[in-house]
Amino acid sequence: MAEILKDINLAARAIREGKLVAFPTETVYGLGADALNPIAVARIFELKERPSFDPLIVHISNLSALYKLTDDPNPYISILAQKFWPGPLTMVLKKSKLVPDIVTSGLDTVGIRMPDSDIALQLIKTSNCPIAAPSANKFGKLSPTKAEHVIGHLSDVDYVIDGGQTTVGIESTIIALSENGFRLLRPGVITRGDIERYVPYDETHEEGDGVAAPGMMDAHYSPEKPLFLLSDVEGLKLQAQRGIYIQFRNAPPPGFDKVLEMAPGGDLKKYAVRMFSVIHDLQLRNIDFILVEDLPEEGVGIAIMDRLRKASFNHKASVSRFLHK
Ligand code: TXA
Ligand code: MG
Repeated sequence: MAEILKDINLAARAIREGKLVAFPTETVYGLGADALNPIAVARIFELKERPSFDPLIVHISNLSALYKLTDDPNPYISILAQKFWPGPLTMVLKKSKLVPDIVTSGLDTVGIRMPDSDIALQLIKTSNCPIAAPSANKFGKLSPTKAEHVIGHLSDVDYVIDGGQTTVGIESTIIALSENGFRLLRPGVITRGDIERYVPYDETHEEGDGVAAPGMMDAHYSPEKPLFLLSDVEGLKLQAQRGIYIQFRNAPPPGFDKVLEMAPGGDLKKYAVRMFSVIHDLQLRNIDFILVEDLPEEGVGIAIMDRLRKASFNHKASVSRFLHK
């Protein structure tokens, strides 16, 4: 059974001993291990039931750690680190020899970020090692934004640090860097436009072309209860009384009397903060499906729609169960 820890010194000792510690970051909870201990890292894959081809992000607390993990001389790295760290930006960089192959799934690149969370930073500092951590959920499932989500998914984790609800709510933006600039591998609350203020976008690659982040599958964040996007069920007569409608701007289709507004006033950052947590909670409610109004795909809306599309992907085929005969 998972033990809830308040004391970061105990958690750091556990990390040093090769144990797994789930901890809050500003984005989502991570399932952490000493990134330089391949056996501890192997346990992350085992506990998460994560395929070995899906590499982990390494979390650091200062810039000297960055230059131990990468030999990449690219000048854009320090510009972006200064502007966005600590914060929800992961840079995929050429890895140094120090990084064990299991962390990067054998790739010659490593994803690195400095999280903007006092608990996470203190844990890394006190452990005195970089911490490899994927989101602390079973592979392909909803990301956890509260300690109780972690315990629900991963009751076998050694320790969980309870830091309350995370403040950003969706995972970090992931970019790859080259001499031409950056490419977006996963959208997040730091948008392409935010990064383009400092580093050019690498136009030599088309979106979706070339090396993608190996973990970026069509289906992900999959809740147990079917989740549909409104645009995917247009023209279909849904049994509205069985579902709940998550509203952004527009009123629900006829018949939906259960309606939830994720971000009254239309603030997309607030939407991101609450999204996974609300979907977690809806799993426990007496409803059969979740219908989500599509968001405008601009700014943070791009990252949210990316998560919602993946959350709905495996469910699309089941929509016929909820149609009027
Ligand atoms: O906000 C976050 O990024 C959270 C917190 C815990 O930091 N972490 C997180 O990790 O979302 P995870 O493992 O759920 O997603 C990380 C993704 C992987 O699926 C993989 O696609 C990509 O990062 N990634 C990691 N290393 C990579 C590499 N060397 N090359 C390409 N993609 C990489
Ligand atoms: Mg994840």
